[in-house]
Amino acid sequence: MHLLSTVFSLFIFVYLSGILNCYDIWNDVPCFKQFTPEECKPENVELLTVDDYDKCGPAALEKNARNYFLGASGRRLTYKDNKDAFSRIKIVPKVLRDVSRNQINSSTLGIEVDFPIGASPVALQRLAHPDGELATVKGLSNFKTIMILSNFASTLIEDVGKAAEGTLLQLWMQVYLYKDRRVTLDIVRRAERSGFKAFVTTVDAPVHAFITCNARAKSFSLNASVVNVDASVVGNGDVSDLSLTFEDITWLKSQTKLPIIVKGILNGNDAKRAILAGASAIMVSNHGGRQMDGTLATIDALPKVVAAVNKLYPRRQVFLDGGVRSGTDVYKALARGARMVFVGRPTIWGLALGGSEGVRKMMTLLRNDFNQTMLIAGASKPSEIKEDTLLPALNKLLGIIDV
Ligand SMILES: Cc1cc2nc3c(=O)[nH]c(=O)nc-3n(C[C@H](O)[C@H](O)[C@H](O)COP(=O)(O)O)c2cc1C
Repeated sequence: MHLLSTVFSLFIFVYLSGILNCYDIWNDVPCFKQFTPEECKPENVELLTVDDYDKCGPAALEKNARNYFLGASGRRLTYKDNKDAFSRIKIVPKVLRDVSRNQINSSTLGIEVDFPIGASPVALQRLAHPDGELATVKGLSNFKTIMILSNFASTLIEDVGKAAEGTLLQLWMQVYLYKDRRVTLDIVRRAERSGFKAFVTTVDAPVHAFITCNARAKSFSLNASVVNVDASVVGNGDVSDLSLTFEDITWLKSQTKLPIIVKGILNGNDAKRAILAGASAIMVSNHGGRQMDGTLATIDALPKVVAAVNKLYPRRQVFLDGGVRSGTDVYKALARGARMVFVGRPTIWGLALGGSEGVRKMMTLLRNDFNQTMLIAGASKPSEIKEDTLLPALNKLLGIIDV
């Protein structure tokens, strides 16, 4: 009897550690293995939440492509914390607030959007789907929202512009400031001619951080390439000019009439300096945990950035990306002062699981979940979302009141 129960316990232990290992794999990336959890097998997969996309999207990709998109720097602390930090914030709904005049449209840099959620720039989307960025445009084209095209896209700027022509989708172009400014200007001019409406310059990547898993998988090769910048510019390891300062934002501003959004800001002082240098808006971002590992989660960095920007110009807008996976995350970011949020990897998981239709479904889920959250919290539209529905309270975070 004793032997039987020992064997049984051993069996349970082995079985459970199998499950735990499977679970762990999502956090620690199985660099060498293809891995499909039971619930992500084609016959079982049910995509009801963006978390489902987050879980099953990677399993739908070949391992090198999966590692590329799932990759984060160092110990992946920031990658995880971007999501965990949202869970640490609680919403305290206000009831009986007459939310019957429900609407979730908003405006971003003066342009109306159907809902305050857009797509962050993610490179090399043809790794996730043969149609890559064109499938993303198609998936989002019935929404009045914003897609930011990566500087390292695998589709020509002109083709993306053409695909979005006549649709509701608005395109912004992400651009790095290269040592050779002619490379930057080439992208700027091509995007202007292709109907893009703003530039997003990413400032958190003077060099590309080391992504451990990509390095471990020694035969790492990708079946897509960067097509808008010469491979020799990209291939030397340094993404941008190491000598960049805020004056370079002023330079970019002087080269175009379109608004400049500075992406990759995590503190109030930098936000203020970027605005003074000519930025029309700030995007709080840590590159989805792919650059500095161990830095602040974006939702935690947001309040001080918003406070600094508001102090300077109360109407100047702040956006956020990093770890947004549910309607409650969107709500929390808006309550902390973001005008709009953007998602990076969820778009890729949508592409991987269903091409353009997958992107459309993922965004629809997020939109509906946000709308539901807003109504239950007592707001009928984004402008009614107030930070006093969140705990911990903002003034504590800002150090204004010591509680
Ligand atoms: C695979 C991958 C490639 C990315 N490529 C770019 C890029 O080319 N330019 C850029 O500014 N940000 C890039 N990012 C960062 C995203 O724009 C965004 O900040 C991040 O993905 C947001 O976090 P999330 O994935 O948790 O939503 C990339 C992110 C990933 C995952």
